[in-house]
Amino acid sequence: MASFLQCMDCQKQYPINQVIYTCEACGGLLDVKHEFNRTLISRELFDSRLGALQAPYNSGVWRYKELIYPDLDKKFIVSKPEGNTNLYHVPKLAAWAGVSNLYLKHEGENPTGSFKDRGMTGGVTQARVLGMQRVACASTGNTSAALAAYAASAGIQGIIFFENKNIALGKLSQAIAYGATCIQIDADFDRNLELVREVSAQLGIYVLNSVNPFRLEGQKTIMFEVIQQLKWQAPDWIVVPGGNLGNTSAFGKGLVELYELGLIDKLPRIAVIQAEGASPLFHSYQPNPDIKDYQRGIDELTPMKANTIATAIKIGNPVNYPKAVRALRQTNGVVEKVTDQEIMDAKALIDAQGIGCEPASACSLAGVRKLTQTGIIQAGQTVVGILTGHLLKDPDATIKYHQNTLDNLSASYPNQLLQAVGDARSIIKLLTERE
Ligand SMILES: Cc1ncc(COP(=O)(O)O)c(C=O)c1O
Ligand SMILES: [Zn+2]
Repeated sequence: MASFLQCMDCQKQYPINQVIYTCEACGGLLDVKHEFNRTLISRELFDSRLGALQAPYNSGVWRYKELIYPDLDKKFIVSKPEGNTNLYHVPKLAAWAGVSNLYLKHEGENPTGSFKDRGMTGGVTQARVLGMQRVACASTGNTSAALAAYAASAGIQGIIFFENKNIALGKLSQAIAYGATCIQIDADFDRNLELVREVSAQLGIYVLNSVNPFRLEGQKTIMFEVIQQLKWQAPDWIVVPGGNLGNTSAFGKGLVELYELGLIDKLPRIAVIQAEGASPLFHSYQPNPDIKDYQRGIDELTPMKANTIATAIKIGNPVNYPKAVRALRQTNGVVEKVTDQEIMDAKALIDAQGIGCEPASACSLAGVRKLTQTGIIQAGQTVVGILTGHLLKDPDATIKYHQNTLDNLSASYPNQLLQAVGDARSIIKLLTERE
């Protein structure tokens, strides 16, 4: 038995093919655990698959199959293929943030425009292993787009529970277009997650929110790819936006696995960045200046009513909280919060580099700057920020920022849209005046 499910709290084990999300004995979250074949796993094995043309190793997730689902029969894999996203070296943004060596890993370059595709190839593949006919999720938007696309590829029905307001239009349009059953509900994300779990349990539907541990097996490959792109040299910091904390949890698990397998020589520290209006992890994770060990400041989670312009992370009761705390402990991690103003200004700078991202993703850059200013990140360290979603996901936020019409926010880096009448002379005048 190469893979099984295990409760993170009481360690009770369950077979890999059981439809179960939390421990029957204690309610704890489950991990997918693997008995790794250490003689097979090596940097050279994964390097030999770079640039592969054949499925499944042409995927930036399944390239690491031995680390995510070793015994899986390849016929079950649903891949588009995902991953293989760029790692941008960004010296200008590094200078702005106060570090010498900054990279941005652009997960918005996945097939549906966000990192969720890496999780969804894991989750929908497992749905096929289990023979499930329907899959469902609650979503702030990106999960729905990924679920809808992967369900369509697999020929199974996708069902989405949306909040009936604050969904970025790019994401809603994807879910509808890919053919999922989309339900708008008068409830926020946190309530919708409860509802999707309740309804799915009654109707035998497979839940593909990040409480599903197969999602996290896919998402941990973001770390594998970053480190492989850095020629197997671990950076000092991984900086990631935090909402439901699936990535934080997956990154911790993936990094520890790489370290224990000897594929990296040190563990990077994880910095989770939350939007101020949706920062339950930050509030539970205050460092106590009197105690040297940062982690002793962790409290119980106090859920909050979330509100932020970064709708992707408008989450007040993160389901993966216990796993995220474990990841922070294991990697000597930190948590920071940034305002909507800081998020949108950082986004404008990322966009203006010709890279671009959606609002939530810009937490990474805003967070690096803040952590540098507070002296937690040192100027000489190597930092990798994760951009979680594509610029086109939320055009409304971008345009309103540059028009300076966002509530309670004033654009620090606006690119004003100019107007001209349809004649060359007036356009030339306009351009000359700007020189
Ligand atoms: C663009 C984007 N960034 C960040 C997040 C938060 O990720 P996590 O729930 O893994 O913390 C999400 C989740 O929906 C997202 O869509
Ligand atoms: Zn348990």
